[in-house]
Amino acid sequence: MDYVENLSLGNSKVLILKNALICDECQSEIEGIYISKIIEMSETINSFMYGDESYEFIPEQLTNESDYIPKKVGNYQESSKKLPVSKKSQKVDMRSIYNKITKKIIGQDDAVKTILSTIIRNSISDSCYTKSNIFLIGGTGNGKSETVKQIANELGLPYVLEDSSKFTQEGYVGESVENAINKLIIEAGEDITRAERGIIIFDEIDKKTSNGEQSGVSTTSVQDSLLKMLEGTTFHTKAGKINTERITFILIGACEETYNKRDKRLKNKGKIGFTTLEKNDKSEATNPRFIPEDLIESGFKSELIGRIDTIQEFKPMDVEMATQIINNSEISIFNLYIKELEKLGVKIVMNRDEVVNAIAKRAVELKTGARAIRQIVVEMFKNLYTEVLLSNKSIKQIYHYNISKDTVYDNNKYELCKKEEKQ
Ligand SMILES: Nc1ncnc2c1ncn2[C@@H]1O[C@H](COP(=O)(O)OP(=O)(O)OP(=O)(O)O)[C@@H](O)[C@H]1O
Ligand SMILES: [Mg+2]
Repeated sequence: MDYVENLSLGNSKVLILKNALICDECQSEIEGIYISKIIEMSETINSFMYGDESYEFIPEQLTNESDYIPKKVGNYQESSKKLPVSKKSQKVDMRSIYNKITKKIIGQDDAVKTILSTIIRNSISDSCYTKSNIFLIGGTGNGKSETVKQIANELGLPYVLEDSSKFTQEGYVGESVENAINKLIIEAGEDITRAERGIIIFDEIDKKTSNGEQSGVSTTSVQDSLLKMLEGTTFHTKAGKINTERITFILIGACEETYNKRDKRLKNKGKIGFTTLEKNDKSEATNPRFIPEDLIESGFKSELIGRIDTIQEFKPMDVEMATQIINNSEISIFNLYIKELEKLGVKIVMNRDEVVNAIAKRAVELKTGARAIRQIVVEMFKNLYTEVLLSNKSIKQIYHYNISKDTVYDNNKYELCKKEEKQ
């Protein structure tokens, strides 16, 4: 039962699906899953993914012990067609949702996997285990809110995003934490059963730590008022009684202090070698994790962190990630502009790698995550777009626009050229 203990620490990445317990560090032990526990579970998900590979159970065919061991069925793309879909797994196809979301949210695959599987377990499956709450750590604009929003939409679950910095203890000026429950009921169309499977996000929770920006009596009491709610309790609202036992609570914070605590801890352990970082190395030195103590030492109450099972980081955006977001994301604002202009009959001619690289570099400099990409792209096309909208149709059919990396820094630096002219 080691894996179960690991899970409650909330630090190791452990997936429980059909009670298959797969520890991140013990990939080789996939075959050694606890069979007895699988039998105890009523139902969860029949297929799941681990790394780039798919596994599946076919519960209808469970006759002998070896059937309870998940079978590897290939990689995602290949297996999606091959997998037999059972009645229960028709409810939710985690792989296709994961594929959909990671086409939009780039470079945060681990976070998408963790959040998606946790919410599915909490809200969709009917098995009777204790639900998990999530703590998301990461700087601004890295996709935390967007990821949760996309997942909630894909799963058709109601969700509420609350800015914790406005909360104070009940009786004080400001909104009470419990208000979030009322908002969730409204989001669920006053359907309590739906609301009970919803998602409540408390953003900027790090402002409510004992040494956070708003430290003081009311800040830790906000943490206190979250305790019961996170664990599972019944609230009496105007719409009726609501139980929070299955509601997924997601706490979000930039948590700079928590990063400091983690780095200090790893340095002390001699585990972090900043000069020897190698890509794709999954060891702690290159892939440092957060442990509950990092959060507690940075001002969160241990009782609160004790109610969190999963701590997940959203990686900061570097030039490579920014480049991928610009080029590959289905919600890439850059691609959207090019398409919009094409629809207006205007072709944009450019050295794409050079332009994208300039946007990516500038975006990283601005330190506002992927939000910076939007700002830069909107700004760089501002004059050109206005000119196109003002021009008459025949001009658009004869001319195209040349843009370059200079356009990224100065939105007047573009050229209107005749289509016939060679570059
Ligand atoms: N990894 C990503 N891939 C693609 N687009 C992204 C990514 N991260 C962020 N974005 C884009 O940037 C916008 C802002 O992201 P989001 O609101 O999720 O940031 P956040 O992490 O919640 O930041 P904050 O801490 O400031 O609330 C999103 O709407 C999305 O368009
Ligand atoms: Mg956000």
